[in-house]
Amino acid sequence: MKILVTGGAGYIGSHSCVELQNAGFDVVVYDNFSNSTFESLKRVMQITGKQLSFISGDVRDEVALEKALIGCDAVIHFAGLKAVGESVEKPLAYYDNNVHGTLCLLRVMQKLNIKKLVFSSSATVYGDPEFLPFTENHPLRTTNPYGQTKLVIEEILRDLFRSDPTWQIMILRYFNPVGAHESGLIGEDPQGIPNNLMPYIAQVAIGRRECVNVFGNDYPTRDGTGVRDYLHVVDLALGHVKALQALNKPQCTAINLGAGKGYSVLEVINAFSKVSGKEIPFEVMPRRAGDIAEFYSDPTLAQKLLGWEVEYDLDKICEDMWRFQIKNPKGYVL
Ligand code: NAD
Ligand code: WQD
Repeated sequence: MKILVTGGAGYIGSHSCVELQNAGFDVVVYDNFSNSTFESLKRVMQITGKQLSFISGDVRDEVALEKALIGCDAVIHFAGLKAVGESVEKPLAYYDNNVHGTLCLLRVMQKLNIKKLVFSSSATVYGDPEFLPFTENHPLRTTNPYGQTKLVIEEILRDLFRSDPTWQIMILRYFNPVGAHESGLIGEDPQGIPNNLMPYIAQVAIGRRECVNVFGNDYPTRDGTGVRDYLHVVDLALGHVKALQALNKPQCTAINLGAGKGYSVLEVINAFSKVSGKEIPFEVMPRRAGDIAEFYSDPTLAQKLLGWEVEYDLDKICEDMWRFQIKNPKGYVL
């Protein structure tokens, strides 16, 4: 089976390419390299020992996309912009890249009669929890343009399925993907100052930044800091393989991919410090605007429909992230 992976050079995409190739899928990456480099794909090939086809292109370029899609059986759609803060400053760029980009993809898929799709959504579509853990039927609402693009795309997919129930669509709602491939060859390589907690901690541990800013210690959580459901990116990648394998009948199904368990900011700092053997200084700062105190997934549906659950724990996440950080102290820049 030949799979077009949009955004395949990115963080989650590159790990998914490894697991897709390992599972015997024929992979074609389609990426505009706006937030990635070709280096990640070279390393994917180094890990798997297999050739990877890749096309440099934008999902909004329907002509190039159509050429790339000919002969493919399914699409995994990772391509998009993902920084919450930036989306508040540049909402048009986010709607254009994410929503318009997905519309272009769906139009070309429809034209070529390719109707199997796995889409990267996010737990951000649940907004402030009415109850925890989040199940897939928790009400949906978002608080920022990035989240809004994910929710709008989800609704587009549900409308598309209503109009043509021969589509086979899985919407995967990721919780907090972290970690790196065990080889230390691929991992997260944020440009500039990391927005997210774990890459920030890793850069403090390696000495690139002085101390972790803990955004608030007065939340109603066990130690006052924010609690999230962190899952290993390789587990997440394996979830995509399972989703493709399970996608054998018409549907449009949303599924949580998470560990089902939350860790606080201080627990994550401690785990990383223990694994790396480095002291990780931190300073408590005011809360970050828009943050939620605590959320984590109910991953029961993924287990039931995909036979998927996480294998790796927080220590393994830290070990693999640390290995990537040591091997690539400045990211993919050689
Ligand atoms: P990433 O930025 O590392 O990867 C996205 C890739 O898409 C990059 O390689 C980028 O160059 C490419 N891209 C962006 N716009 C494109 C376009 N118009 N045409 C072609 N390629 C384009 O991000 P990631 O962390 O790997 O995230 C992958 C997907 O998962 C995104 O859709 C993101 O919103 C979603 N997601 C990520 C997280 C997370 O915490 N990382 C959580 C939930 C959902
Ligand atoms: C985790 C915890 C922070 C940084 C974001 C997006 C979400 C999804 C994943 C794509 C929180 C605290 C953070 C720091 C800190 N992406 N923190 N110091 O906010 O759960 O999710 O990424 O879909 O949509 O919103 O992840 O890693 O930024 O924060 O104290 O320097 O760490 O307050 O409690 P978040 P995060």
